Amino acid sequence: MTAARHVAIIMDGNGRWAKKRLLPRALGHQRGVEAVRRVVRGAREMGLEALTLYAFSTENWRRPEEEVSDLMSLMKRFILSDLEEFAEAGVRLKIIGDYKAFKPDVVELVEKAIARTAENSGTTLAVALNYGSQDEIARAATKAAAKGPITPETISAELDTADLPPLDLLIRTSGEVRLSNFLLWQCAYAEMLFTDVLWPDFTAEHLREALEAFATRERRYGGR
Ligand code: IPE
Ligand code: IPE
Ligand code: MG
Repeated sequence: MTAARHVAIIMDGNGRWAKKRLLPRALGHQRGVEAVRRVVRGAREMGLEALTLYAFSTENWRRPEEEVSDLMSLMKRFILSDLEEFAEAGVRLKIIGDYKAFKPDVVELVEKAIARTAENSGTTLAVALNYGSQDEIARAATKAAAKGPITPETISAELDTADLPPLDLLIRTSGEVRLSNFLLWQCAYAEMLFTDVLWPDFTAEHLREALEAFATRERRYGGR
């Protein structure tokens, strides 16, 4: 049995959580942020080396402007309210994806947060912002090609996740069983866990259970 080092989560179901309660979607996203807070605290306490969270995909721009703007404000508010706690606790923030396409105020805040935690050596919290795996692979391949032969190793070395441990476990909430353009390359030999729990209902206990389930799985990597 081996413990997971790197877990990634597709945090899905905020909209359905709100709809079920006849509440505005924005409130679902707000509750989603509370789940992020719980899970980051949990990941840190459980000693995970890296937690990667899918917060905004390259496809999420297709949502109504109002929802995109709600998500941006929530992100800013979350950094302002929680950065100090996580920074003090040794969390290192990293962004995967092209976050520079966001509005300047968001970019500035994100960069301040990265700088504030850059020296930390505890859990790495990698947040996927304006992230799409196909875009990431295309960017990595372009960089690898400029340096020499394209091989799985040279591409891996240029991915946004190059400095993270290999992905052990991918979790998706809300009952959808698809990757939605998340970590396609990194999932090659990751274990997967799909749960019906909606993201705003996800707790540190759910994460603990997922880690326990992971520890009992036998990974073969094609061998025997
Ligand atoms: C996930 O919840 C949050 C983001 C994609 C930012 P959704 O907003 O996708 O919720 P559902 O899938 O509509 O329930
Ligand atoms: C994936 O969820 C993106 C994030 C969780 C940020 P979506 O809700 O956007 O995915 P689809 O549209 O159901 O595939
Ligand atoms: Mg969704």
